[in-house]
Amino acid sequence: MSIKPVKTAVFPVGGQGTRFLPATKAMPKEMLPVVDKPLLQYAVDEALAAGIERLVFVTARGKGALEDYFDVARELVDSLTAKGKTAELATLEETQIEPGRMVYVRQQEPAGLGHAVWCARHVVGRDAFAVLLPDELLWNPASPALKEMHDAYMKLGGNIISVLEVPEEHTHRYGIVSPGRRDGLITEVSALVEKPARGTAPSRLAAIGRYILQPEVMDVLALGKRGAGNEIQLTDAMAEMIGNQPFHALTFTGTRFDCGDKAGHVTANIALALEREDVGPAVREWLRAQQF
Ligand code: UTP
Repeated sequence: MSIKPVKTAVFPVGGQGTRFLPATKAMPKEMLPVVDKPLLQYAVDEALAAGIERLVFVTARGKGALEDYFDVARELVDSLTAKGKTAELATLEETQIEPGRMVYVRQQEPAGLGHAVWCARHVVGRDAFAVLLPDELLWNPASPALKEMHDAYMKLGGNIISVLEVPEEHTHRYGIVSPGRRDGLITEVSALVEKPARGTAPSRLAAIGRYILQPEVMDVLALGKRGAGNEIQLTDAMAEMIGNQPFHALTFTGTRFDCGDKAGHVTANIALALEREDVGPAVREWLRAQQF
């Protein structure tokens, strides 16, 4: 049977972002800017680069700014046009997605990442789909993460998750892979453990917020089993599928910033600013002048 390209991506953006309070009291975490673009824009760009056509956002109360961001800001466009501000107008272009390609679903309680994904089940239907966590900024402009995963998916089928080796002392924060056979950057997944207790992790390969999944994961999530933190965990649902379906991890080769964490977000801003022609020189000059 030939493998069909993945056309739907789910962006779970219903979390409360408690690690980023007070900023997230009145602003969704996914709208935090890295230089001048919100985190969500980076994730959407990555999905589009992988050929995704339908974008499903699982939002929550207080996340209206996310919908406004991808809407047409008519008054702003009119006022920039009247003032001849063409460069500023051009920056709005990437926020314009063809009508009908974006779907918004509400997660009515923050019951966990698995629950957020399950909320998208009627839109996803019975095809394979991608999941992108926008607070994980996977930076690899020459070869975006989801595109690399999708290329692997077209050969291997089944389920593919993006992983990175993390220090042993950080493994308790992640979903960790129990590795099977390795072939270059591809590792067979023989089990998955969500947030293993310190010293018990089966490897240092951590899931970093990008997934291509078969629709059967929705059937497992529908059982509503609670896991770590009394939340419905995506990792637990994926773990139940191993053995019934092919399951692989692809090691990410770019730079990953955990922007749900304050230090990760600040670092992402510095790193991406340094790459830019407009703001890079000023940031570099300031950094050089510091006595670290
Ligand atoms: P996090 O584990 O980072 O949780 O979620 P959080 O609530 O966003 O942030 P903290 O830990 O309180 O600071 C990972 C991803 O899963 C989504 C989040 O929006 C984020 O993209 N998520 C999490 C949901 O959509 N719903 C949930 O119930 C939990």
